[in-house]
Parts: sequence; C-alpha cells; structure tokens
Amino acid sequence: MTKELRPIAPLGLLVQRLEKLAPQMPAELQGELQGALALAAGLEPYLRACAAPESVILRDLVAAAIAEDWEGRFGDGTTTRRLEREMLSGHVEGQTLQLLVRLMGARRVLEVGTFVGYSALAMAEGLPETGEVITCEVDPYTADFARRHLDRSPHGGKVQIVVGPALATLDRLVAEGQTFDLIFLDADKKEYIEYSRRALDGNLLVRGGLLCADNTLYQGEAYLPDPSANGAAIAEFNRAIAADPRLHTVLLPLRDGLTLAYRR
Ligand SMILES: C[S@@+](CC[C@H](N)C(=O)[O-])C[C@H]1O[C@@H](n2cnc3c(N)ncnc32)[C@H](O)[C@@H]1O
Repeated sequence: MTKELRPIAPLGLLVQRLEKLAPQMPAELQGELQGALALAAGLEPYLRACAAPESVILRDLVAAAIAEDWEGRFGDGTTTRRLEREMLSGHVEGQTLQLLVRLMGARRVLEVGTFVGYSALAMAEGLPETGEVITCEVDPYTADFARRHLDRSPHGGKVQIVVGPALATLDRLVAEGQTFDLIFLDADKKEYIEYSRRALDGNLLVRGGLLCADNTLYQGEAYLPDPSANGAAIAEFNRAIAADPRLHTVLLPLRDGLTLAYRR
C-alpha cells in the first residue's frame, strides 16, 4: 500500500479544496474547475520533473521516512515528540538548498532541525570534501535514524548531528565563535526569531552568508486570518526578517515557503 503524503503547503491544500468542490459543481462550471485543478495539481510534479534528480540515498531516505510508523513510535515512547513523514523537505527544496550551497561556494552549513537528515544530506552533497554541515536535532531516535542513513552516503561524513535543544546548541556555537556560510532554519516555528537572533546578533552567520528558513508560508496561515500559534510566530518572523536592514530578503513560494535572506 502506498502511503500518501498529506498536503502541508498552500498549493496542495488548494488542490485538496478544489477536489472537494468538484462533485458539487454544476455541469456548466466543470470545465473551468477541471482546468483550475489541472493547473494547480500539475505544478508540483512538473517542478520535480524539471529539477536535478535526487541521489539514490536521498530517494531511499524518503522511502524509509514514509515506511516508518512515526505515530506508533511516539505512542510507545520511542520518540520524545510527535514526528511525521511530511516533515522532510523533499526533492525540489533539497535540490534548491544544494544549488544555493554550490552557488555560494559554502564550506560550513548550520541546520536547525534534522529529522531524518534529508536536507542535511542534500546540502552535504553540494559541499566540497572538506565542507561541514552541523545539524541540530532534539529527538535522539530520529537523530540515530538520520545517522544510519547518512553513513551509507559518501557525503555522510560531512554531517555532524548535535542532539539536544537547538537554542542551547546555538548558544554554545556562539560562545565558541563558530561561523557558517549558510544557515537553514527548520525546527520549532515559535523559536525562528530566536534562531535568527543567534545567527545575526550572535554572528553565527558570516557577512555575505545566507539565512534560509522553511515553512515561512505555514500552510497559508502567514497571510490568512486567524492563524495558529505557529502561523502567528511565522508571520512575526517574516515581518522581522523583511524589515531587518542587515538582510536582503525574499520569500519564495516553493512548497510551504522558503525564505532566503542574504546578510549584507
Ligand atoms: C521539519 S523537521 C526537519 C526536516 C529536515 N530539515 C528536512 O528538510 O528533511 C523538524 C525537526 O526539528 C526537530 N526539532 C523541533 N524542535 C526542536 C528544537 N527545539 N531543537 C532541536 N530540534 C528540534 C524535530 O524533532 C524535527 O525532527
């Protein structure tokens, strides 16, 4: 049985709503509706078809994340938090991050939120032999899961997983004076502002470096009324980042929103 990924991005949610509307639409509107559905539903598969292919290990990682019973793992106490397969960023976003790493000639990458290591490995594949990804994960089970898969890749040795709350890890990295060319935020949405403070005020991000943040549309909640607490936190983060004179920022409507902010 194929396990479908639940839509978590505005486009997927739009497709889901159009599909729900279809049976209720009068015959004279069916043509327009089916046209709208084809336009919306066809975009993501087309973007995947037009992107560089994933490596075999990245593809295996998706299959392993889909096969894992995350709800059961949380239910029996194996994971310390509720995780879900939809958390991994996937093909087009992974290749976008890898492209950015290559374009910048990045050597050191910091990721906040590892999950199964998909984006960490996608970025590591774009780094030179001596490059390094430090990635923060609070859940020991998913960190081990990621490590096992990363160890199968010739690029896995570039990835160091630090297990523990991300803010504590970032504070340690600030205290040690560590710096990074690219920082990718993808953990607790309510902490994004604090992560970005460590990146900018704490100087984890070098001048000329890139701050990237995932889920900055937050299923559309960033711009729709009545957002959840996470949606409101993302909207506040988006306002702060766009207004920060140290940054040159765009929010790309890729998947659930990918913010790119260049540090001047
Ligand atoms: C969206 S997933 C990361 C997905 C991954 N970047 C990718 O694209 O494949 C978020 C991960 O962050 C972890 N996380 C959430 N809050 C955290 C925190 N405060 N410190 C460290 N990790 C955290 C979760 O356990 C989860 O595995």
